[in-house]
Amino acid sequence: MAKANGRNPVGASVYSKTSLLLYDALVHWFSNNWIWNCQRFHLANYYQRSFSSEHLEIGIGSGRLLGHLSKEYHFDRLVIGDVNDDCLAFASKVLGKRLHTAIRLNLLERSSKWPHVGRFGSIGFNYVLHCLPIDFAAKLRIMDQLIDRFLSKEGVLVGSTILPGCRSAWLSNRVMRFYNQKGIFSNENDSLPELKAWIQARGNQSEWKIVGDVAIFRVIA
Ligand SMILES: C[S@@+](CC[C@H](N)C(=O)[O-])C[C@H]1O[C@@H](n2cnc3c(N)ncnc32)[C@H](O)[C@@H]1O
Repeated sequence: MAKANGRNPVGASVYSKTSLLLYDALVHWFSNNWIWNCQRFHLANYYQRSFSSEHLEIGIGSGRLLGHLSKEYHFDRLVIGDVNDDCLAFASKVLGKRLHTAIRLNLLERSSKWPHVGRFGSIGFNYVLHCLPIDFAAKLRIMDQLIDRFLSKEGVLVGSTILPGCRSAWLSNRVMRFYNQKGIFSNENDSLPELKAWIQARGNQSEWKIVGDVAIFRVIA
């Protein structure tokens, strides 16, 4: 397991009980609007066409984004997975009775070690790839493994990631470099052409778009 000194890597451990209180204001309001230039409605459009009655959200953060995007939606089964126990506890409170199960799952472990929770019609995977401290090919393999392991036939994986090279804006380049130096992001070598090739290889029903510094995608199992 990729742990730093017995703890989760910074890209996961930075989300603490305290920072989660500010997370949505900082990430989904301030950074999305003023740094990454990707307003939440772009993501809402992809997510709301993807939800199924059995949904798995991986890398849950505070849980408020999922709660907001799915507020009109009834789930028969909603499961959240994360390596960070603070995120699981915080999001469990936010999602309340809508949540069925919270599982501890480390994407950096072999997928054979991931918990058995069955298959889902949809998986949400938002803003997680750019946090993982591994090379981009390994990140794409993780998405393949999530699909193979947890998606039912014709199920949908929907997500987004912040990528270098989408546009060249001074502020977002500076902030991305700073976050990479701190280990909060690990996306310096993430590649838009490789992501596009992966999405296209997933079939002609797959979709993606670039908004600001963010790639939003939706692929079918
Ligand atoms: C930037 S937050 C995104 C949260 C949420 N998806 C959102 O868009 O608001 C990244 C999330 O991925 C989780 N995460 C980071 N590394 C992980 C890993 N190796 N395995 C599972 N979850 C991980 C973090 O704990 C955190 O909840």
